[in-house]
Amino acid sequence: MRAKNRQARGLFITLEGVEGSGKSTQIRHLAEGLIHAGYRVLQTREPGGTSTAEAIRQILLTASPHEPVTPQTEALLILAARCQHVTHVIRPALERGMIVLCDRFSDSTFAYQGFGRDLDLKWLQEANAVATDGLAPDLTLVLDLPVSVGLARRRAGRGPLNRLDRETERFHRKVRRGFLALAAKEPRRMTIVNANRPAHEVQDELTEIVVGWVARQRHRPRRTR
Ligand code: TMP
Repeated sequence: MRAKNRQARGLFITLEGVEGSGKSTQIRHLAEGLIHAGYRVLQTREPGGTSTAEAIRQILLTASPHEPVTPQTEALLILAARCQHVTHVIRPALERGMIVLCDRFSDSTFAYQGFGRDLDLKWLQEANAVATDGLAPDLTLVLDLPVSVGLARRRAGRGPLNRLDRETERFHRKVRRGFLALAAKEPRRMTIVNANRPAHEVQDELTEIVVGWVARQRHRPRRTR
């Protein structure tokens, strides 16, 4: 797994967190900051990032309650979308030396489908390794906040609630515990950032962490054309 990551010349950074943690806004700011500093950046998201994967996202988020999506189906669809995304977008960008910023990746699968849906973590890790061909993030930031705060923000925000947003608070608490447990096991790769404060404070901390980390990777700035 590591060897494959080393072969790629770029850097792979993921943002994770429970619903309402503000990831999508923060990832946009991060991308702008890195581009401004002269890096070549690809911003993408999961499930999604290719036309096939975005079609799978639609199924996942809008499936009718009349035919409940089983946890196994959910996991397999997410992994199928990831396989398309890694093959056609993420790995090619890393091979071109870009910084890839991805809104959710494998840790979401372990947190939502593993901790949240109680699927076997070992099976998920093995299936995920097939989907990603062993690609793992170099740096992961987990935006953390109490589930009640995140869900209230999500309900007050723009857009309709999707199938996963509408899950019980108990489910989302299991997901949050999952992210915290994953971060505790891999403290070198995963950093928890307190997202229960004004967005500009979160943004400042994220920028400091990411820009500092990128600089330490001796990844020389390159201007976009
Ligand atoms: P988003 O709201 O962050 O765009 O993500 C869409 C939903 O997909 C979100 O509720 C989390 C869920 N999801 C999983 O359950 N497992 C995964 O592996 C990923 C990437 C997302």
